[in-house]
Amino acid sequence: MTIAVVAAMHEELGALLAQMPDEQRVQVAGRDFWVGHLHGQPVVAVLSRIGKVAAALTATVLLERFKVRAIVFTGVAGGLAPGVRVGDVVVATKLLQHDLDASPIFPRYEVPLTGHARFAVDTAIGDALAAAAAEVLRDPVGLLGPQVVEDFGLAAPRVHRGLLVSGDRFVSTAAESAVLRRDLPDALAVEMEGAAVAQVCHDYGVPFAAVRTISDRADDEAHGDFTRFVSAVASRYSLALVDAWLATLPAQ
Ligand code: ADE
Repeated sequence: MTIAVVAAMHEELGALLAQMPDEQRVQVAGRDFWVGHLHGQPVVAVLSRIGKVAAALTATVLLERFKVRAIVFTGVAGGLAPGVRVGDVVVATKLLQHDLDASPIFPRYEVPLTGHARFAVDTAIGDALAAAAAEVLRDPVGLLGPQVVEDFGLAAPRVHRGLLVSGDRFVSTAAESAVLRRDLPDALAVEMEGAAVAQVCHDYGVPFAAVRTISDRADDEAHGDFTRFVSAVASRYSLALVDAWLATLPAQ
């Protein structure tokens, strides 16, 4: 059965799509679903577009139309925790929607009627992605070339595992990220889709995992070299990571 690899923007998935030898495009709801193989594994790769609704819709199509057996979300995130730097990789253990608040009817962050605020990822896929990330980050110069490593200061990237938070906001002020750090002190990084997909996968009982490259510190400089970073660094990290992970799976 097929595995889905999802990212929000083209630049985040570009390198991976280029590696799929036999991909065929299927259009649903204005999105291109690329159906093919990577490392002999049946894969469907898709750009969700940006934000929680776009991501939830994409996940639902993947589950209903393509009957995927797991969804992995990749791309970029803004670092929140102090040691989470540009060029590091965060492998989620849990995901939460930081802008969801139905209090006082339900506790803040809780998805009403589910009893959950934090949605856990599939442990086996999370472990495998973390191992793949450690492998990929061992040689940033080999992967990205010396100039990119120097330009973005990526000499010693690290892998982190923990809470990833999602919301319909690009966090681009130091004041806003300080509030997130205060309210969610264990959050490692912030993005705009993962927790929505985690919720949909939870409802369907299908494994989910998320791995994000840190593109910015979610502060006043967050938008700086964003686009260049995504295509020069995050896209290659995504491909290398997903590639290393798929290579470990039993042949289909
Ligand atoms: N994705 C990458 N950087 C981000 C940020 N600062 N806020 C939200 N999503 C992001």
